[in-house]
This record gives sequence, C-alpha cells and structure tokens, in this order.
Amino acid sequence: MKKVLVSGIKPTGEIHFGNYFGAMKQNIDMANSADFEAYIFVANYHALTTSNNNLMAEELREDVYRMVASYIALGFDPAKANLFLQSSVPAHTELSTVFNNLVSMPYMMRAHAFKDHEAKSKDVNVGLFTYPILMAADILIYDADIVPVGADQKQHIEYARDIAGYFNRAYQKEYFKPPEDFILESVAIVPGIDGNKMSKSKNNHIPVFCDEEEIKKRVMSIVTDSLKSADKKDPDTNNVYNIHKHFLNKEEDEILRNKFLNASPETPYGHAESKKDLIETILKFRKGKYEKYLELMNDKEKLKEILEMGAKNARLVADKTIKEVRNIVGLEL
Ligand code: ADP
Ligand code: TRP
Repeated sequence: MKKVLVSGIKPTGEIHFGNYFGAMKQNIDMANSADFEAYIFVANYHALTTSNNNLMAEELREDVYRMVASYIALGFDPAKANLFLQSSVPAHTELSTVFNNLVSMPYMMRAHAFKDHEAKSKDVNVGLFTYPILMAADILIYDADIVPVGADQKQHIEYARDIAGYFNRAYQKEYFKPPEDFILESVAIVPGIDGNKMSKSKNNHIPVFCDEEEIKKRVMSIVTDSLKSADKKDPDTNNVYNIHKHFLNKEEDEILRNKFLNASPETPYGHAESKKDLIETILKFRKGKYEKYLELMNDKEKLKEILEMGAKNARLVADKTIKEVRNIVGLEL
C-alpha cells in the first residue's frame, strides 16, 4: 500500500532559490515518488489570512498560477501526484467548521503563528487565529500518513494530531488517525545576495523565473570581500560559493572549492569570475525550465486543466470523509 502524503503550499508569488532548495525540491521529489499517493494543494484559503484584506482577486489568481507553473516547470509531474487548489475541495473548509467546535480558545491562543503575528500587529483576523484548524482539516480529510513540512510548521502538525484526538474522544470512535510529521531534512539555509537568509521580504533574493538580465544583475551584486583575484579564498565564508554550492553535485563542488582555495597569481579566481561561473550554472539549471514556465504562464487553460484533474481525484477521497463525518456528528439525517 502506498503511503498517503499531504502538503499545502502557500501561493507566495515569485519564487526564489531559497524556496526551491529549502522546500520545493524535496516536495517535488517525494510527490513524484512511486512510494506515495500525494495530495499537494495550493493553500489559497490560508493565503487570505495574512492578506489584510487588500490582496486583490487578480493578484491572488496570478500568485496561484505562478506557483503552479513553477512547480510543474521545476519537475512536479501531475500524472504522478495530485495538484489542486484548496478551494476546489470544499470538504476542507466544511471539516474545519466541525473542528472549530472541538477546540478551545485558550488552546488556539498558544499557537505560535498567531502569537507571532499578534506581537507584531494587533490587526489579526479570525482566519489567522483558526489557521491551524483549517490546516488540521487539510491533513485529516485525506487520512494522511505523512506531512512533509519545514521545521516552522512542526507545531501545526501537533495541532492536527491533537484535533484528531479531540474528535475521536468527543465522538467515541477511533476515526481520525493522528498524522506523523516529517520535517524536511534541514537543508542549510540558502543565503541571499547580502549574505543574510534569502527572502523576498528582504529583497536579497535571486528569483528562479525572471529574465536573464535580472539574474545577471542580482548575481553581480552579491556582496563580496576585498580580496584580489590572486588571493586564496575560504569558500565557506564566500557568499558566491555559499549560493553556488546548492546547485552542485559532490565532484562539481570539489572542483569549485578548489578554485577558491587554490587561487594564486598563476591561477587567479576573482569575484567577477566566480560570479560569472554562478550565472552560468543558474542559466544551465534553468534551461528548458524557464521556457516551460513561460509556456505555462501563457496557457492558463492548461494550468486549470491540470488543477481540475487533481481536484477530481482529491474530491473522491475528501467527499467520502466528510460524508462519514456528517454521519458521525449527526449532521446527516
Ligand atoms: P520568503 O521568506 O521569501 O517569503 P517563504 O517564507 O514564503 O519565503 O518560504 C517558503 C518556503 O521556502 C518555506 O518552507 C521556507 O522554509 C523555504 N525557504 C524560504 N527561504 C529560504 C532560504 N533562504 N533557505 C532555505 N529555505 C528557505
Ligand atoms: N501552513 C503551511 C505553510 O505555511 C501550508 C499548509 C497549509 C500546509 N495547509 C497544509 C502544509 C497542510 C502541510 C499540510 O507552509
């Protein structure tokens, strides 16, 4: 029996190499694997919780299209795994409405996401407050065995486990199986062009799918020290290397490290050269993928078709669960 894998991805718009190496790559590899029956959805309801009500409908749609096109261009195979919109499977939100009544306010107030936002701004909406409940519904509706997430999501999986238990106790039935978390093996943080963690909000990122000139501009502005071409360099403290290494296999990495370590008057390796090498690697990595991305972004009907195919399969499972829940709870006469 294949294990059921569930994961939600927030539509954050433009993706960068921190997102790719930090999360998307592993997600794609697992979803494509024959070991899993995967349900991967774009969490567009969750996207509403932090939009402060000023995310326009067109922006949300565009963010979703970009995320879906990015996933597929980067290798996600919709024939092997189900990719769909959270909002295309209404059973997610229906189940979360049932869960809302099993969870206490003080318990929800201990959720990190809520506490962090509240500390920054008092303007927290109720959707954000109940975010972990909807996430629990996302997971439990498919009877997930495994939920691959970043370390920051660990508490949300614990909430899903707790909520499964609350339901089972309330209705005296071992109905929901508490899901296991699967924290993605800690991929070293990908630094941005200023050396800090790559992040859109810091505008220190290198987008995966932007035009070539932008890639060149971003790479050329990576912060470097004042060492000369002929000076030996420690790759581990070099920002260009610390970004470049994520693209390389073991042998390629060894070769690159040696270029930094063995720089000398005879074999110089300066910042301009190392940046040129990184640009070359990025463009090689993107070859075919960027074209695929642009093709998909110009064919929204195709993207909708892919999403609908995934949603159809997802609804088969989710609708069965919600029907059983309605019966257990007494909502069905
Ligand atoms: P951003 O900080 O650019 O807004 P998000 O917070 O939307 O990125 O991150 C989406 C996913 O990508 C998360 O799972 C996060 O752990 C991962 N991620 C983001 N930036 C990095 C990075 N610099 N290094 C490794 N992983 C990252
Ligand atoms: N909260 C997750 C994140 O910020 C996204 C998400 C929503 C999710 N629902 C989920 C992840 C269900 C795993 C399972 O990344």
